[in-house]
Amino acid sequence: MADHEEKNLSNEYKELLLSLPKERGWIARHEYQYQGFWCPTADTFQAIVNFQKHFQARDSDIVVASLPKSGTTWLKALTFATVNRHRFDIKNHPLLTSNCHNLVRFFELDLYANNQFPDFSSNFPEPRLFATHIPFPSLGTIKESNCKIVYVCRNPFDTFVSFWYFVNKSRPQSLGQLSLDEAFDRYCQGIGGYGPFWDNILGYWSESLKRPNNVLFFKYEDMKKDVVYHLKRLAKFIDCSFSEEEECNGVFEDIAKLCSFDTMKKLEINKTGTFVMNLEKKSLFRKAEVGDWVNYFTPEMEERMSKLIEEKFGGSGLTFKRIPELPAEWN
Ligand code: A3P
Repeated sequence: MADHEEKNLSNEYKELLLSLPKERGWIARHEYQYQGFWCPTADTFQAIVNFQKHFQARDSDIVVASLPKSGTTWLKALTFATVNRHRFDIKNHPLLTSNCHNLVRFFELDLYANNQFPDFSSNFPEPRLFATHIPFPSLGTIKESNCKIVYVCRNPFDTFVSFWYFVNKSRPQSLGQLSLDEAFDRYCQGIGGYGPFWDNILGYWSESLKRPNNVLFFKYEDMKKDVVYHLKRLAKFIDCSFSEEEECNGVFEDIAKLCSFDTMKKLEINKTGTFVMNLEKKSLFRKAEVGDWVNYFTPEMEERMSKLIEEKFGGSGLTFKRIPELPAEWN
């Protein structure tokens, strides 16, 4: 029987949706497996189909891509600030007065949600900036275009903890809380959040190897170590390299500071109110630490996740350093 969310869809989408495998959802009653990945809600599924049918990529477009809870907010802010650095003064910057999800908008959660034809005529100066969690193979015209994709990935240990936290903050009360054990089991089965997580990451990883001029891959942990270095990579990749004068004037450092967790978390605009799907902005900023998983995982969970990573990523060339090392009492 169709549930409430499914009933809201127009007939065109309902039929396809009802033919898809479905599971209990993370942030809605159900989620749906479409083209091999999990759409978090029926509405998101509809938006993805709209996006695939109607979005026309331009070679000049820049797309920030990620799995949820991998550093999307951060990379959006860095990309927006880099591309627009000549338009805005750093002390009076839109990132200080707008949540960055309103400045770099998601296709599936925002632009195409309840809208087959978003208006790109205003507020989208070239290069247009977009964001998505959709896996690479399902990106429609973007795949065939020459546009630039910047992808951020985070070690699955911390991504999972961050995701579990966020989901429990975001679930409707009627669905109750999701226990750590159940959430972990589903995550490891690859159910949920535009995953399986390994397929989403590996799709962009292999594309970045095949087409390095079009897909640039970041690791959250590397960015935490040296954000200025990675900001330079980003700027060069999107053809926005900084002049010597800008470098000498510390523009990289200014942007890094503007987009830092400490700056963004403290902003009034990020403390209250909601962004896409009525999710609370303040839930976007938790700890931003590398290695926080160790406060949640049992030794059994660590073993299962490590084996899974070995099985799925082994041979791909993509590795995840487990930080921190295992606690002594686990040995
Ligand atoms: P934690 O839950 O581990 O704290 P996303 O932006 O993809 O939703 O990812 C959210 C994660 O990135 C959260 O991790 C959040 O705290 C962290 N984060 C948000 N803004 C950040 C920033 N400016 N710099 C670094 N990390 C950030």
